Amino acid sequence: MKGSKILLVVVILATLAALVGCAAPTAAPATSEEAAAPAAPAEQAQKTYKDLVVGYAQLGAESEWRTANTASIQQAAEELGVTLKFSDAQQKQENQIKAIRSFIAQGVDVIGVPPVVTTGWETVFQEAKDAGIPIILVDRRADVPEDLYATYLGSDFVEEGRKAGNEMNKLLPEGGKIVELVGTVGSAPATDRFSGFRETMAPNIEIIDSQSGDFTRAKGKEVMEAFLKKYGAEITALYAHNDDMALGAIQAIEEFGLKPGTDIKIVSIDAVRGAFQAMVDGKLNVTVECNPLLGPQFYELALKVVNGEEVPKWVPSEESVYYPDNAAEILPTRQY
Ligand code: AHR
Repeated sequence: MKGSKILLVVVILATLAALVGCAAPTAAPATSEEAAAPAAPAEQAQKTYKDLVVGYAQLGAESEWRTANTASIQQAAEELGVTLKFSDAQQKQENQIKAIRSFIAQGVDVIGVPPVVTTGWETVFQEAKDAGIPIILVDRRADVPEDLYATYLGSDFVEEGRKAGNEMNKLLPEGGKIVELVGTVGSAPATDRFSGFRETMAPNIEIIDSQSGDFTRAKGKEVMEAFLKKYGAEITALYAHNDDMALGAIQAIEEFGLKPGTDIKIVSIDAVRGAFQAMVDGKLNVTVECNPLLGPQFYELALKVVNGEEVPKWVPSEESVYYPDNAAEILPTRQY
């Protein structure tokens, strides 16, 4: 009897406690908007350079320019603390595409690529877009819709061609017959330097032959040998789409028994150290600058893109023109 009374008291107390708990007031919303507003999404954390994982699908190592470009991309990553996954496609588009796919599979934050040629990128760029990974075109543009890449960092190749045309006019005031060493067929710099040059070239100058030297010294030499065999001393000048091909051609001209820079005037593009040395030696007349030191700007853009900041669709590099008269003074200061 005594036990059942105790049990009854316990049950009553438990019931009262439960009722008080249910009736306990909850925190009231401060305003009516607060009551209506959905829970605020957590602010997306902004990445820093140290968080950034970047894939870079370099196109190859065909020239002094490219070597300097690779060094700039790698050094800047190291200095900033960016994690860089780097691949060298050895001049093959299929290798660049494979590298991009592998970066997508690894889930990098952003992919940088200098397209070896302008066409054939839509499918793989779309794959990157679908995976939420922005593409940044570095050095060379691609012929794709603008929504498939975040930005393009690189030179105005048409303007470089125009500058080269103006310089050729100054070297040949009486006109002349020139040969042209074109870069990699289908690449943006080759296409644009070809057309830019023709925009400014004087009507008394005739391009008697134009062949690709694939931006390499060896091919530049080989093609110049063929030009010399065919036209000999008829050639008054050479327009080379890069310094490496001009340097190869200089060798061919000397072996043919003519004086590069004097018998055959030469205008080329890039402004690498080898070109400055050739100007000091009197073998090259003009080099139009094309800046390969794009690493720091590339990562700055990459970070902005990953953090959702607005970036321009094209960030052009500022470039000069160099001549033999002060080449010796400038050479020691050149970084590439
Ligand atoms: O895309 C830039 C060009 O590529 C440089 O002028 C040339 O030297 C390089 O190979």
